[in-house]
Amino acid sequence: MQVNQPASLAGKNPAPRAADRRPPGPPPRRGPFGSLHYYYRFLTDSIGFVRERFELYGDIYCAPTGDVPLFVLRHPDHLWEVLVRDAGKYGKTHSGFDLLQHFLGQSLLTTDGEVWRRQRRMCQPAFDKQRLADYATAMVDETRNVGDGWNDGETYDISREMMRMTLRVVCRTLFSHDVGGKANTVAHAMDAFRTAFELSDLLPPWLSPWQRRGDRAKTALDEIIYAMIDDRRKASSSPEPPDLLHMLLTAIDYEGDGGGLSDKEVRDQLVTMFLAGHDTTSHALTWTWYLLSQNPDAERTLHAELDDVLGGRLPTYADLDKLSYTRWCFEEAMRIYPPAYTIARRAEADATIGGYEVPRGSEVVMWIYMTHQDSRWYPNPRAFIPERFSPEQVAKRPKLAYLPFAAGSRACIGKVFAAIEGQLVLATLAQRFRLRHEPGHKVAMAPRITLAPKHGMRMIVTAR
Ligand code: HEM
Repeated sequence: MQVNQPASLAGKNPAPRAADRRPPGPPPRRGPFGSLHYYYRFLTDSIGFVRERFELYGDIYCAPTGDVPLFVLRHPDHLWEVLVRDAGKYGKTHSGFDLLQHFLGQSLLTTDGEVWRRQRRMCQPAFDKQRLADYATAMVDETRNVGDGWNDGETYDISREMMRMTLRVVCRTLFSHDVGGKANTVAHAMDAFRTAFELSDLLPPWLSPWQRRGDRAKTALDEIIYAMIDDRRKASSSPEPPDLLHMLLTAIDYEGDGGGLSDKEVRDQLVTMFLAGHDTTSHALTWTWYLLSQNPDAERTLHAELDDVLGGRLPTYADLDKLSYTRWCFEEAMRIYPPAYTIARRAEADATIGGYEVPRGSEVVMWIYMTHQDSRWYPNPRAFIPERFSPEQVAKRPKLAYLPFAAGSRACIGKVFAAIEGQLVLATLAQRFRLRHEPGHKVAMAPRITLAPKHGMRMIVTAR
């Protein structure tokens, strides 16, 4: 797929001379503890560490990580070269990948080439317009339930509330809550996977208590999911409206071998969508509430739009186009706090980035967070200014200066799902409530697999 990446506005690293085949970067550390020094700094403050390096070396640098060169990027043109122009030269099997595959199996997130293409073809109909309209009804329903449980004047950890809600949305849209009383086991399993990924670098797998906990959770989760698949295959009727499980069980690869997905393939997709589909959206919403609480003008504009368009009724799929300021608020929050703040690839063939040579086997990390924080594309980048997402403003920036859902053929399959969910949750709750950040509660980022609020988000809820 060709995407026109507009010519960028300002200076990247100067074009390399023939002799500069590698971008600049820190020298390798020698001695018995070699790269431990870098590693420690990265673990304790990855964002500060990477920002410092971009300041020092420019838009692209090469980090010394053992035998394999690691290219670190932030410039929209460079991201475009990897994600769009040369997408076919890169695969997803970067380091840390084995563990991901161990838990998720062979799914959209973990496969490449023809296996991935077949899966994407077969999963795509589950995200078509009619399905999204059905999911929208479920999203509003689940959000209203959460709001009904809130008491005027009470303080809540909004990150937990958002997690609870996005989990309910995903359970309902993926498998119509068929997990029944086992929803907690599913949520715990996901939590155990997440911890195992996050702490995987600290100890080898055979020594890691987190990985053992993750393995136990995987066994429990697989039992539930396979039982659910089996029940559905035997059932005489299908759920109305159809959920994602139904779509996967009935998917046929018309363009390929004409076959369907095996139980194992359905399991792998379900677990992946479940994991990819709720904590990202939950973090994005939590950060949006926080930013609105710090920006009363934006909050007032949001309330005015909701009052004007909805006049007190619940939002529907048909209202989405009219709720543009609501959408901009969510988009701006994902700019400042992108839930998927980095994307990684491995070069499967020799390539170039910004004119530098990228030998086959190199790893590439794209720091979306840094792209979104770049004052060349976003003057005063820490400020929350939803108007940045008006069509006129968007047209002035390089297309890949904003990529919370990545770009190119491997862009997030759930991006419209998530965008709709964000807009509807904000519209449903901001109509009824104002959320204030609890004085004294500390706010910090935890850049783990996704960009979580480190200490949760304590907020006081008042009825409007
Ligand atoms: C705010 C919410 C979300 C964000 C920020 C987000 C972000 C991303 C990003 C950046 C990628 C690309 C990863 C890469 O290239 O390495 C991705 C892929 C993916 N996401 Fe999302 N996502 C969100 C919500 C969802 C939802 C709701 C679902 C499913 C219901 C989902 C399912 C997936 C899947 C299956 C992939 C792999 C797609 C492929 O390679 O074909 N995501 N997501």
